[in-house]
Amino acid sequence: MSRVLVIESSARKEGSVSRQLTAEFLANWKAAHPDDEIVVRDLANEPVPHLDIDLLGGWTKPAGQQSEAEKAALARSERLTAELLGADVLVLAAPMYNFAIPSTLKAWLDHVLRAGVTFKYTENGPQGLLTGKRAFVLTARGGIYSGSPLDHQEPYLRQALGFIGIHDVNFIHAEGLNMGGDFLQQGLARAKEKLARVA
Ligand SMILES: Cc1cc2nc3c(=O)[nH]c(=O)nc-3n(C[C@H](O)[C@H](O)[C@H](O)COP(=O)(O)O)c2cc1C
Repeated sequence: MSRVLVIESSARKEGSVSRQLTAEFLANWKAAHPDDEIVVRDLANEPVPHLDIDLLGGWTKPAGQQSEAEKAALARSERLTAELLGADVLVLAAPMYNFAIPSTLKAWLDHVLRAGVTFKYTENGPQGLLTGKRAFVLTARGGIYSGSPLDHQEPYLRQALGFIGIHDVNFIHAEGLNMGGDFLQQGLARAKEKLARVA
């Protein structure tokens, strides 16, 4: 049995394409892996605060010297990191907002990219500490960016996930969703075809 952690980051509850993709992914996944445990963290329902001075204090100060706010920030980061450490499969749903990932997803990454916990610095450079995990990234984009230098989602997320040791990452893009005509249906159909294959 594996554990699948799904991170939702669309601000939309209704009409969200990325949420449609995660629902499709999960339906396929459950059919192929009925015993797997699914954990869903919805960053729209429960936003993670920006990385701030309290989180930095919680990470770096000795326990006895932390303020209540620093302790709370550290506890939040510990919870989110434990959820990631406990997962075998990570599914990130990432709408494109202003050419990049949602700030809520960036804030989540800021809580789980942790020196000494999910990566460490060595003489040979940084080393990811997570092993044996796979990730799927399901994006929803108004325009078409795949393979273009204007795609700031896929290279960034590959870098961030690789940095903590997740190298087996499969991207499924639903693109051209706001371009009118048949683009929405075509973009969705292509993404769903790929989703059916990966589970
Ligand atoms: C605030 C905002 C910013 C957006 N910025 C971009 C953008 O930079 N490039 C793009 O192709 N689409 C952009 N879009 C369109 C979304 O990527 C598209 O509607 C996508 O389906 C949103 O994901 P969702 O359907 O899961 O909510 C933006 C949408 C919103 C609401």
